[in-house]
Amino acid sequence: MNEPTIEVTQPTAPPPIGEIHIYAGRLDHDEATVERLTALLSPAERLLAKRRVTPELRRRAILSRGFLRAALGASLERAPVEITLNLGKHGKPFFLEPDDAALLDFNVTHSGDLWLCALTATGPVGIDIETPRDETDWNALVERYFSEAEGQAFAALPENRKKEAFFRTWVTKEAFLKARGSGLTTPLRDFDVEVNPDAPVALLAVRIPEEHVEAWWCLEVTGCGAPAVVAGRGTKPKVLLATLDPS
Ligand SMILES: CC(C)(COP(=O)(O)OP(=O)(O)OC[C@H]1O[C@@H](n2cnc3c(N)ncnc32)[C@H](O)[C@@H]1OP(=O)(O)O)[C@@H](O)C(=O)NCCC(=O)NCCS
Repeated sequence: MNEPTIEVTQPTAPPPIGEIHIYAGRLDHDEATVERLTALLSPAERLLAKRRVTPELRRRAILSRGFLRAALGASLERAPVEITLNLGKHGKPFFLEPDDAALLDFNVTHSGDLWLCALTATGPVGIDIETPRDETDWNALVERYFSEAEGQAFAALPENRKKEAFFRTWVTKEAFLKARGSGLTTPLRDFDVEVNPDAPVALLAVRIPEEHVEAWWCLEVTGCGAPAVVAGRGTKPKVLLATLDPS
């Protein structure tokens, strides 16, 4: 069976069933861009950004939410500032308007200066990107975060593939948790994902009540500067990668 392809293209709005649109941006823009994107935020979002403890965190919060609103506005063909958002029980942003929520789910991730957002009409979606760091003790991290099956698969890998495997596994696990919206309230050991970096990313087993492994799909998002995975429930879509130009 052919894997869905990832194309770099300008997506049409809103994403049709069977497509997922991924916008990519950077969080290192200048003050002029920060100011322009501040205008897209709601008063509550501006207040939240203002409360961030450092200027750098404030700038990143404004850019992330401003890009999100720009991407949602492009997808729904509406003014970004008119879109109403709320936070789920565990912090996942969602549309306040049921009509918008019926059309789309979306999710945001950032690591360093890289920012990604996934939008799809296919079902709940989660995305995660992580800039790899050097670690001295992979075993301790795997012991802490991975399931038993993942730990065994990781131990069998050659040493020189472990860093790559660790971060790919990490972003797959996070993307699944973010699609569910549950964050760390779902124990990381309650599901297994593909650990072998030569195999396609996948959710392999879930031990979560009322959750079924076949209901979920995962796709690697390549070409965005760091390991990234998008996961969702429903039919596995084709991915379209779009660059969000904030200027
Ligand atoms: C938010 C969470 C789900 C992921 O956090 P993260 O990987 O540090 O951060 P990301 O950049 O990928 O995601 C942050 C974005 O996710 C969104 N988000 C917040 N809570 C969320 C949730 N419960 N579900 C889905 N998305 C969420 C927000 O849009 C946020 O962006 P913003 O702060 O600009 O608004 C976090 O609560 C979490 O559970 N982290 C797990 C950390 C960990 O130890 N993972 C080990 C994996 S092996």
